[in-house]
Amino acid sequence: MSFQAVILAAGQGKRMHSDLPKVLHRLAGKPLVAHVVDTARAISATQICVVHGHGGDAVRAALSGGDLVYALQEPQLGTGHALQQALPLLSKSPLTLVLYGDVPLVRAETLRTLLDAAGKSVAVLTADMDDPTGYGRILRNKSGKVTGIVEQKDATATQRRIREINTGIMALPTARLAGWLSKLQNHNAQKEYYLTDVIALAVKDRVPVTGVKAGDAGETQGVNTRAQLAQLERSYQWLQAARLLDAGVALADPLRFDARGTVECDRDVFIDVNCVFEGAVKLGAGVSIGAQCVLRDVSIGPGTRIEAFSHLDGALIGANCRIGPYARIRPGTQLAADVHIGNFVEIKASTIGDGTKANHLAYVGDTTVGRNVNIGAGTITCNYDGANKHRTVIEDDVHIGSDVQLVAPVRVSRGATVGAGTTVWKDTPAGGLVLNAKTQEHRAGWQRPQKKKAKS
Ligand code: UD1
Ligand code: MG
Repeated sequence: MSFQAVILAAGQGKRMHSDLPKVLHRLAGKPLVAHVVDTARAISATQICVVHGHGGDAVRAALSGGDLVYALQEPQLGTGHALQQALPLLSKSPLTLVLYGDVPLVRAETLRTLLDAAGKSVAVLTADMDDPTGYGRILRNKSGKVTGIVEQKDATATQRRIREINTGIMALPTARLAGWLSKLQNHNAQKEYYLTDVIALAVKDRVPVTGVKAGDAGETQGVNTRAQLAQLERSYQWLQAARLLDAGVALADPLRFDARGTVECDRDVFIDVNCVFEGAVKLGAGVSIGAQCVLRDVSIGPGTRIEAFSHLDGALIGANCRIGPYARIRPGTQLAADVHIGNFVEIKASTIGDGTKANHLAYVGDTTVGRNVNIGAGTITCNYDGANKHRTVIEDDVHIGSDVQLVAPVRVSRGATVGAGTTVWKDTPAGGLVLNAKTQEHRAGWQRPQKKKAKS
């Protein structure tokens, strides 16, 4: 049956103690509400309505897509009031799926089960929690039928012992919503219009209410505090690590692994501790990533080793390269095969050919480097004249000595050797030696300055 989704995301999240609206706090690098939008898309909601209010402009800016419509809730008088604000925007889809912007990890399969269970009636997603503190509790009668939901703050001591909680997620017949929502009262501990009270109204109207239990309590965890967000982040990362382990990736410690995006690995990849992966990362067969590396939007060819403490961003790395420790590869970089980039070497927007080496302390920016080039320690491409960036070209088989400055735009032609300490500001011919004529003097008997004695 076709359905639309409404995502409640207007609350401030007082318990986060933050200026950022709660639903924009990030889980695995992505705003909480964006996880929910992506799941609603995955199950093909006909329309997705986001109810926003607190920090509304920021919420809209964080989301994108022509399939989203926005309802403003101002002031925020509770979850029932929030859904009411969406009513004028709802489409004709017979079912409305209510999702919470602060319950980010609910799975598409679970939502499909909930929608199937609802049919033309009401279904609410519940979960058994070891510690149900803070959640609304599901009330069932003697025959096990759901009769209502009571919030923690309004519950009696006996009700608080119920471990089956309301995840907040429910599917409801669109045609009944306006009637039920108009009947909500705010005579409760929080003086709010609770969406949860709709369940008792449905029961009163003899509309069947099905409670569907989520298989995994983790997916229905809500985020109300920073501690809950941190816990959810860890359990999410553990799931991702477990998925990689299952696929044959060797993780030195699955508890010290963070993917804030996607990580695709070929066979026999090894990942040491405390690495962070962002955006889309692809690791070829046999790739090894040392400890404490950060990789964002990179693709790494087979057999390449990234040594500890390296930072790679927006790069295509070929096969059998050696990178780091302490290397920095910046956006727009392409390394061919067998390239060696060593410690404290920064590469930006540059293409580097097969077998080229820059092993120590260098800056290579806006440069095209050929094959089998050696870039000595302390080599700097001076690519910026204070106003514009310029390119450097270093052709195949060039040997650049230590402490060389290449003042762009400049070309060092094939096979040339550039002597240590040279400033290259003119294009050089192929082959031969390039150097700046300098002299070396020796002043015998020269005295070092002495430190003046302090006056007492
Ligand atoms: C809510 C449920 C509770 C459930 C829990 C699950 C109600 C009354 N309570 O409690 O039964 O166990 O979620 O996580 O529904 N929001 C608005 N406008 C508002 C208030 C809230 O859009 O006026 C949004 C919030 O941004 C949030 C969601 O609704 O995304 C839930 O609000 P929150 O205040 O976190 O409710 P809980 O106390 O967690
Ligand atoms: Mg909540």
